[in-house]
This record gives sequence, structure tokens and C-alpha cells, in this order.
Amino acid sequence: MHRRPRRNRQSSSIRNMVQETRLHLSNLVYPLFIEDGRNIKVEITSLPGVYRFSIDKLLREIESCVKLGIESFILFPKVKGNLKDSTGSYGWDAKNFYLKAAAKIKTKFPDICLISDVALDPYNSDGHDGFVHKGKIDNDKTLPLLQKMAVAQAHAGFDILGPSDMMDGRIEAIRTSLEQNGYKDTGIMSYTAKYASAYYGPFRDALDSAPVKNKEIPKDKKTYQMNPANSREALIEAELDTNEGADFLMVKPALNYLDIISLLKQNFDLPIAAYHVSGECAMLIAACQNGWLEYEIAMPETLLSIHRAGADVILTYFAKDYAKWLKKNQ
Ligand code: PBG
Repeated sequence: MHRRPRRNRQSSSIRNMVQETRLHLSNLVYPLFIEDGRNIKVEITSLPGVYRFSIDKLLREIESCVKLGIESFILFPKVKGNLKDSTGSYGWDAKNFYLKAAAKIKTKFPDICLISDVALDPYNSDGHDGFVHKGKIDNDKTLPLLQKMAVAQAHAGFDILGPSDMMDGRIEAIRTSLEQNGYKDTGIMSYTAKYASAYYGPFRDALDSAPVKNKEIPKDKKTYQMNPANSREALIEAELDTNEGADFLMVKPALNYLDIISLLKQNFDLPIAAYHVSGECAMLIAACQNGWLEYEIAMPETLLSIHRAGADVILTYFAKDYAKWLKKNQ
């Protein structure tokens, strides 16, 4: 036997030398949930270890993450029911606590990269990412609303906007508004291939943002989010987003869609992001809590696999734990 692949696995120094993929902290984005108020830190029941903070506590949380070396964050607001309406107008309201919080965060931590989601669902009384009109999600009536939301977020100081709504033409619309309003440097991380997935459950619990149960409106997001059966369709979305001015292409969720991450990586030159979503993290946490998997081994393996598939950037609720793990294991 001349070919013995095990020779390159025999010691940790050799294994390290031939290791093909390394996941750095700078590749990770840590999602954070915020609600209005003071002195609030509540755990998300369906996502143990992840919390919703008020701004005072959130600033302290970000400080502890920055100390660990995390540089990028994506922020999501939980909006009170009485502030929601059909257009999601609180999304660009000057009194919006989320926009004010972003400004505070960027003042205190000017060097971090702060990302915002753009979609109507946290603000909208129907719980859909788009504007619901006559029982349907109206694409073209949604675009001006997304434009207002995007400009308000850019004004608040977010570095990158992440349109997650899956309306056709949104990147073009948002890019045009940003340019017209003087926000030429605000980036767009487009949720390019966002699938109608079962794995967003804990996120919708955290924000109380699920589609409302009402016979008059669609109960799911299948008329705008992609069919999990499709991969070539992701190429159409990626081409549109690239041509419309996106700076990143995102695949979401990550683990059931590693083939899509790889497909976009091979076919496009923009950086590829993957959203390792709430349900994917919750599954692993649940198995570990039962003693069925070992977190310290399964968590880094999971993140590494997303990177290996081709994701340059990974949005994950495990970012803080990964930072701690790196400190112990480097
Ligand atoms: C909102 C949005 C969702 C997620 C990110 N942005 C939920 C949805 O589309 O219903 C999910 C993220 C996660 O599950 O961690 N448009």
C-alpha cells in the first residue's frame, strides 16, 4: 500500500498543517434581539441561551462580545402589538426605539459592523414580510414601504441592510433610495435564497412576528419565500440581486441548504453569507441538553461545515459560544 491517507491524520500537528478550512471569528455575525424598555433580559424559551434585551442591557452585552473579539452584529426588534399596522409604519417612525438604539450602539461602538433586517414582519399587523392587500402579499405596494424603512435604518447608522422580505425588485428599489438619499456607503446583504422553511419558529417566538391566524390572509410565506425543493431558482435570485446592486448574497437556512451555498459560491463573485437560523441552533441545543450530543464538539463542527460549503459569512446564535470556544482551543 503506497497510498495511506491516514498518514496525514496521525498527529495533531500534521492534522493542523493539512487542515483545509478554518473558521475565524471575523466570519461570524451575532444576531441580537431588542425590545423597548429598561433593565430587560429575557431568555427565548425555544432558543435557550439567547435573550431579548432592552438597550441598557444590550450595550453591556455588545461590550462583552466585543471583548471576546466579535465584530459584527445583526439586530432585530420586538415591537409592541399596539404599534403595528398594515403598512408597518413604525418601521420608519422617528420615535422608533429600534432606530434610536442603533444610533446609540454605533455611537458607543463605532468600529463594529451593525446590520439590520429589512422586512415588514416585526412591524406589520398581518405578520407578513410584505404588505397584505385583498388577501394577497402585494409585491409592488411593498417596495415603497421597504424603501422608507431602509432609508430610516441607514439614517440611524446601520452599516449594512439585510432585505429579508423576498419581494421582486427590492434590491433595486432599496439601492436607488439609498443612493438618492446620500447613503451610498450603506451596504446591502441580500437574503437572496431565502426558503419557506420550518426552521424560523424560535425567531418568530422571540419577536412575536409569525403570520397572524386569520382566514383572510395567507397562513405561510410560500408565495414569496422559495420552495425548499428548488436549487436552480436560487441562481435566478442571485443573478437579479447581483445586477440590482447587492454587496453580499445570503442563503437561508444554512444546514439543509449547504448545496445552495456551494452553488452560489461557484457561480457568483460576491461574498456569500449563510444564516444558520434559530431552529437549526435550537435543534442542536435540545440534543445537547438531553445529553445526546456534546455541544463543545458539535457546535464548532456545525459552523465549520457551513464555512466549508462556501459561506464567507455566517450569521449564527452560536457566535458568542464559538468565540469562547476559540479562546479555550487555540
Ligand atoms: C424576517 C426574518 C425571519 C428570520 C430573519 N428575518 C423570519 C421569517 O422570515 O419568518 C429568521 C431568522 C431565524 O430563524 O433565526 N423576515
